[in-house]
Amino acid sequence: MSTYRPINAIVLAAGEGTRMRSSMPKVLHPLCGQPMLMHVIDSLAALPLERVVIVVGHGAHEVVEVMNSTQITGKPCEFVEQAVRRGTGDAVSIALTAATFDDGDDVEDDVIVVAGDQPLLRPETLAALATAHREQGAAASVLTAVLDNADGLGRIIRDKDGFVSRIVEHRDASGSELAIQEINTSIYCFRRNLLAPALRRITPTNSQGEFYLTDAVEVLRSAGHKVIAVVADDADEALGINDRSQLAQADSVLRERINLKWMQAGVSMVDPSRTYIDVHVKLGTDVRLLPGTMLQGTTTIGNDTVIGPDSRIENSVIGNQVTIANSTVVDSVLADTCKVGPYAHLRAGTDLAGGAQIGAFAETKNARIGKGSKVPHLAYVGDAVVGARANIACGTITANYDGANKHQTVIGDDVHTGSNSVLVAPVSIGDGATVASGAVVTRDVPAGALAKGMPARFQLDYERPQKKRASGVPNAPQSDLPESDT
Ligand code: UD1
Ligand code: CA
Repeated sequence: MSTYRPINAIVLAAGEGTRMRSSMPKVLHPLCGQPMLMHVIDSLAALPLERVVIVVGHGAHEVVEVMNSTQITGKPCEFVEQAVRRGTGDAVSIALTAATFDDGDDVEDDVIVVAGDQPLLRPETLAALATAHREQGAAASVLTAVLDNADGLGRIIRDKDGFVSRIVEHRDASGSELAIQEINTSIYCFRRNLLAPALRRITPTNSQGEFYLTDAVEVLRSAGHKVIAVVADDADEALGINDRSQLAQADSVLRERINLKWMQAGVSMVDPSRTYIDVHVKLGTDVRLLPGTMLQGTTTIGNDTVIGPDSRIENSVIGNQVTIANSTVVDSVLADTCKVGPYAHLRAGTDLAGGAQIGAFAETKNARIGKGSKVPHLAYVGDAVVGARANIACGTITANYDGANKHQTVIGDDVHTGSNSVLVAPVSIGDGATVASGAVVTRDVPAGALAKGMPARFQLDYERPQKKRASGVPNAPQSDLPESDT
């Protein structure tokens, strides 16, 4: 590849995607954690690209905004707008003219054309297309697939030497042409200096009245140029997403690929079909994922960590030898050997130092928890800094919100709080201090002190209310003798 002159890529994404029945532009629907269109951009990764031009139309504004804010890898994209949808040939013309490609007719560079709704396309496949195109000195190369059901797709018409003479759309095809199983995937490589003049010669004389990019093939062929077909090994790659069922199908194919990659890299999955890993997640070795695990966004997981069952980790950094069970962890950082769950909710800004534990029905938010500290159950720790080796008891609440503003709670090293204690922020609990059960702490507690409050008072003449019996006699004397059934 390195001897190739840089390639330009055009991505067609102006279509409406009516069959999605969505208010969101079709190419923005997510699969494995990123928009469909971004998967297509990622598939360009193996090519020595100069420019990537995306043709947008329907929902143009939104598409540009989302793409600019989510692109993590690859060449930055440029956008051109096709205001009126006049066909794939028109869309490519607009991209060629609007984006001023480094011109000069003697320059024999190529342009790759792909559609924005084909997220299963692999970088290897595009690279193979570009290689065949160069090696065979083709003017145009079409990626094709052989399908049992070619319904709705353009058919490849080859000449006696096996070159492509034209592509006929399903709705314009004759009976014998419809029997052809080799279809146009809508993924091409063109010699750029031939493509622009070829597009100037196509006409909208077809059943849809559109300018078809596919007609450029016939124009090139009749001018004596060579057009080749490269058959995709895996017809799945050509799947264009038109509706939600195809979206789900593509999502599952992508998921399988991602899972396979991680299993090959040393990750165990008890049930890969119930393990959901986004495309930008990174995993260490000997990670073990139990069913119902969702690893999302830019999450990274260290070695020997066990996650699941039924846990969702989003945009978080998880260390080595951590266990997380039945829990949700979002925008958080967990150091080595932490234990989370079952049933914990770690919200944004949770930062656990080594060996910290957050147990059942505990919630944390914007909270730094020191080394070896424990929040074992039923607590809320928010807007807080907790030192090392502290024990936050069952039912401890950091009351961080006064109804208007959030305030911080600072808890020192070796602090023990009692069950159902309320720490009313802003407040700080000194190192080694103890908070008694049920205490409502409204002032700073000095190091080593005991904070206690509101002990229960006794009423000695108390009579517990009794359940009324049907006979109206409350609390009839009990007998050791069991009553007869009659
Ligand atoms: C196209 C091909 C067909 C191929 C099929 C594979 C043509 C004429 N036909 O048909 O041979 O088998 O893809 O999926 O190219 N687009 C624009 N602007 C437009 C029209 C379309 O940007 O004016 C974009 C669409 O958003 C879409 C892509 O181009 O991403 C393909 O257009 P679409 O109308 O879906 O073409 P198909 O009928 O599927
Ligand atoms: Ca299509």
